[in-house]
Amino acid sequence: MKITLNTLCSIVIAFNLVIANAIAEPNTQAAVAMPDSYSADIAIDILKSGGNAVDAAIAAQFVLAVTLPEAGNVGGGGFMTVYKDGQADFLDYREVAPQKAHRDMYLDEHGNVIENQSLYGILSSAVPGTVDGMWQAHKKYGSKPWQELVAPAISLAEQGFVVHPKLEENIQWRINSFNEEGVNVNFGKYFASAKTGVVFKQPELAVTLKRISKSGRDGFYKGDTATIISKFMQEHGGIIGMSDLAEYKAIWRTPIQQQWREYQVITAPPPSSGGIAILQWLKMYDMVKPDTTTLQHNSAQYMHLLAEIGKRVFADRAEYIGDPDFVSVAQAQLINERYITSRAKGISANAISVTESIEPGLKESEDTTHFSIVDQWGNAVSNTTTINYTFGSGVIVEGAGFILNDEMDDFSVKPGVANVYGAIGGQANEIQPNKRMVSSMTPTILLKDNKVKLVTGSPGGTTIITSVYQSILNVVEFDMNAEQAVNTPRFHHQLWPENEIRHYSGIDKRTLDSLQKLGYNFQQSKFGDVQLISRKDGVLDAASEENGRGKSIVIH
Ligand code: GLY
Repeated sequence: MKITLNTLCSIVIAFNLVIANAIAEPNTQAAVAMPDSYSADIAIDILKSGGNAVDAAIAAQFVLAVTLPEAGNVGGGGFMTVYKDGQADFLDYREVAPQKAHRDMYLDEHGNVIENQSLYGILSSAVPGTVDGMWQAHKKYGSKPWQELVAPAISLAEQGFVVHPKLEENIQWRINSFNEEGVNVNFGKYFASAKTGVVFKQPELAVTLKRISKSGRDGFYKGDTATIISKFMQEHGGIIGMSDLAEYKAIWRTPIQQQWREYQVITAPPPSSGGIAILQWLKMYDMVKPDTTTLQHNSAQYMHLLAEIGKRVFADRAEYIGDPDFVSVAQAQLINERYITSRAKGISANAISVTESIEPGLKESEDTTHFSIVDQWGNAVSNTTTINYTFGSGVIVEGAGFILNDEMDDFSVKPGVANVYGAIGGQANEIQPNKRMVSSMTPTILLKDNKVKLVTGSPGGTTIITSVYQSILNVVEFDMNAEQAVNTPRFHHQLWPENEIRHYSGIDKRTLDSLQKLGYNFQQSKFGDVQLISRKDGVLDAASEENGRGKSIVIH
């Protein structure tokens, strides 16, 4: 859904005030593309009242913890790519493995993976990073008081919000699937009463948010909230303790910044695999596409070439990406032109590479949620946040009212064994205390002539990478507007399952027939929920994928 506001008097007044205070050159346009209407309305309110993109992002993050419990969170983590006052920055507020975690913690005495233990229940949770992340973002870039940014979330938790049909549907699906799989968690106790069109309140979460409002990061990582979490852990066999919480730190990292065509791509560095992956994909595409013609969008040749690139991208991901504070990641080599040229060499326009032959070259219902913001000064935030799978571990911290992540499943629990997204990992991503697990989250910003051209990102486990690079190609290569760029059918291939292309409905049958003749097989399903802002001829455009319950707003 997209709303354009350009006539409302209150906005004009607000913007006059903002313009008078602006340090950077104001452009009087702003836009948000958010995964639900509550976060969209709050983010735009913050911008209209003179807040910057980071202020709006912080307020939205806390609102999503209330209104989008599938993925919004205070019990998870995420990545924030920032372009502020002409500088690029990146905040890693990814969760870390608890101090008591160890490499083989999800294996039985025979060395076999214990089913579902890294995915559901209290042992699947890593130490949450979101609250420290928002606190650090506020300290560095915030312009409005912290309390003002947390207040909307408190009010939505305390007074309640009207439940969207998709939220009720997801809750019912999760409760049923937990029952079918015999997963014993307290999710239903907290969420079964959420019904479409009815106000749903979360009083325990409201109190937790009040402590965060009053004491900042310490309102979560120390004091009452920390005591409630660690007591809950002790009582239910969890391993996150007071020192895990007190010592958690979000980290400012140097984002990956690379030229691709006439654009500066600002994207996520490790522990995300996404930034390296999208650059490999975009650059290799330019190497293998025909010189003289633009390939037709979603044609068989286009899909085949991108699937071939995907094989190589995911082989590298499995082998090389890990937490850069624990393993050395050859980031520069992996996105170096010469390396990518060498990787492109085996790609043929007419044949599929044998899956087993694709080795690393140097010798993730999938949830998570994303939002994109451009403020009236031309600053941008691209933020992806997660508790991993839909509704995370399914465990709510009783007395604190928030859902714990199941991010431990993003580690490689055993070399060669796939996680919930079918992603395979090796030593670089094995479990160690305090280590961050590899992510696919890829919050990305493209600049052209130092101005924001595109802000994009998506949920979807490993398909995040696909949703992001295809949204970029849709805008840049195929000149789509924001609505088209987010809604046009996408497709995904990640080396394994062998030769499988996962795709939206809407891909031409003749195209699929040609690909089948080449040897591909198919799985039709949607993935992702792209939230995208683009600028064309100086005018901002924004869209939320119709798949989800998102809302985007542009103000001129
Ligand atoms: N939990 C999904 C990801 O970080 O990639």
